[in-house]
Amino acid sequence: MIRVGILTISDGAFWGQREDLSGQVMRELAIQLPDAEITISKIVPDEQEEIAAVLRQWSDQQKLHLILTTGGTGLAPRDVTPEATKSVLEREAPGIAEALRSMSLHYTKMAMLSRGVAGVRGRTLIINMPGSPKAVREYLEYLLEVLPHGINLLI
Ligand code: MTE
Repeated sequence: MIRVGILTISDGAFWGQREDLSGQVMRELAIQLPDAEITISKIVPDEQEEIAAVLRQWSDQQKLHLILTTGGTGLAPRDVTPEATKSVLEREAPGIAEALRSMSLHYTKMAMLSRGVAGVRGRTLIINMPGSPKAVREYLEYLLEVLPHGINLLI
């Protein structure tokens, strides 16, 4: 089984002011990975230390194979997902972030505003995605084909 964690990073969704639509799209698409189970999902506010703590716990204790995050990758002062992610990564996988950003530019020039990163902690692959459900769908439809091999290399 490929154990997947889905982390929504959004002040609005955390405080119940906004529905977690991007998390729902993520679950719907991630489950299409062969032999995948969504082991855990969570919503946290845009707080760097809280995000990093979840990423560490899910990698080190829960031993997830894949963590997908949505939200907090833009330029707003509270967008700290990339900083939180980089603080826990042992090795970056810049090719993943580069490919995702360049794929996204075909849909919208706004894609250049996302600062999302990807990389590895222990045996866990962590990938940031933007906060919009549309972006999550575009990212995952593009990525699904590559993820099984990427995850297999880590196990
Ligand atoms: N990437 C794709 N594929 N599709 C999108 O609609 N939206 C962009 C960008 N990346 C978008 C995208 C926009 S409008 C922003 S502001 C940034 O992602 C950052 O989004 P975030 O702060 O919600 O993470």
